[in-house]
Amino acid sequence: MFEKKYTTNLNNMKCVINDLTQYFKENIVFLLCGEMGSGKTTFVKNFLYELGVKELVTSPTFTIMNQYELNGFKINHLDAYRLTTNDDAEPFLEEMINSFNLVEWPENLNIDFKEYFKVIKINILIIDNDSRMYIIEEG
Ligand SMILES: Nc1ncnc2c1ncn2[C@@H]1O[C@H](COP(=O)(O)OP(=O)(O)OP(=O)(O)O)[C@@H](O)[C@H]1O
Ligand SMILES: [Mg+2]
Repeated sequence: MFEKKYTTNLNNMKCVINDLTQYFKENIVFLLCGEMGSGKTTFVKNFLYELGVKELVTSPTFTIMNQYELNGFKINHLDAYRLTTNDDAEPFLEEMINSFNLVEWPENLNIDFKEYFKVIKINILIIDNDSRMYIIEEG
């Protein structure tokens, strides 16, 4: 269990991302928590860009799950905003197993993430128009 905090604007997000690229492995999930517009999708875009994903990374708010592939790893980017815990999460869980996963609004998915994955929780707080605080917890 560790906790790390960073405060940054859009230009210096690398400081947060560089510390997290070591977790790009199978059966890891990043849980992205924070209010609407806090910067969850922006984090995912920057993270996948730094890893080397060449495709355009867009918000999965309407598709719910976008998938990418990098160096033989499957990457799932989920946005559960439009789901509730009453929805069947099994099809998403099946995709997530043996993949690297990033999930926005994880509280809307009826999945006990810790049972299947190593969990990295990323809480994003709006500080002001130009900056966000990222609180990273492992465990
Ligand atoms: N570190 C940051 N510093 C300043 N602005 C940021 C930062 N990260 C994101 N933003 C800005 O916040 C806004 C919302 O970002 P984003 O769409 O990523 O939020 P979100 O949390 O995914 O929202 P939603 O809950 O609707 O999915 C964008 O205008 C983006 O440029
Ligand atoms: Mg989003």
